[in-house]
Amino acid sequence: MSAAGTRRAGVCGWPVAHSRSPLIHGYWLKTLGIAGAYERFAVPPEGFAAFAASIGRDGLVGANVTVPHKEAAFAACDRLGADAQSSGAVNTLWREGGLLCGDNTDVAGFLAALDAGAPQWRGATGGAVVLGAGGAARAVVHGLISRGVERVVIVNRTDERAQALAARFGQATSAAPWRELPRQLESADLLVNTTTLGMADQPALAIDLAPMKASAVVADIVYIPLATPLVEAARRRGLAAVEGLGMLLHQAAPGFERWFGARPTVTPELRALVEADVLAAGKERS
Ligand code: ATR
Repeated sequence: MSAAGTRRAGVCGWPVAHSRSPLIHGYWLKTLGIAGAYERFAVPPEGFAAFAASIGRDGLVGANVTVPHKEAAFAACDRLGADAQSSGAVNTLWREGGLLCGDNTDVAGFLAALDAGAPQWRGATGGAVVLGAGGAARAVVHGLISRGVERVVIVNRTDERAQALAARFGQATSAAPWRELPRQLESADLLVNTTTLGMADQPALAIDLAPMKASAVVADIVYIPLATPLVEAARRRGLAAVEGLGMLLHQAAPGFERWFGARPTVTPELRALVEADVLAAGKERS
């Protein structure tokens, strides 16, 4: 605890100014009446080890970890949760009995957002296509397999990365080259974008959703803009579409509960608050 006994947590990244985590945790601290603090920690790669060592001191009870530190956080931990172990990345840190502990709440965050945004996906997804093969794809693929999805096809610009990821997850997963996407989409019940395509200032993810079944669900984990070109294309095609913001909101909850001891809720009011903030930042940019 700090001198005043206030519990502190925060988000550690480089850069970190864009992070909406302080807004989310600040909302929960306020609405739950907890006298804690949630800060931004701008930490360059060479400073990460010292930051991790400071967890557990001066009231700092833990931290979220964002780009580019998720793999360094994984390596720094003395103890890992199951989702961190399976995905090879850590986004939530805390200390227990002197040991640095970490888990990856992106997995549960993605699944909770999908459950909330398109509940029909449950039990109806035999096959999924995941675009991308980075850290976010690992969390998504692991989450889908953990929910019993039978076939996950990973499609990535760099095919070797898709193949490596598929090999890591075993029988339920396979890799397909980008040019085969139309054929893969024909049989998919779910399409998830985990690439950075469609993000503000990045090229759009320009793929044709025409081959997809009418019952298919499309999810994007990009949340700036709130409705990406992919989400808009899915809606025009009449498909259920899940925006990326839900994952951001839901991945925050387990860390908050661990650090501050109360289970927070992703309310419509919180979603509206973060949506307004993302929209306002978009207007500033344009
Ligand atoms: P994260 O940890 O957030 O997933 P990452 O590991 O940098 O980030 O992965 C970014 C993903 O977006 C990768 O799958 C990347 O494809 P490559 O493996 O070929 O680099 C994908 N990506 C980024 N820019 C892309 C582009 N212009 N076209 C296609 N895919 C792109």
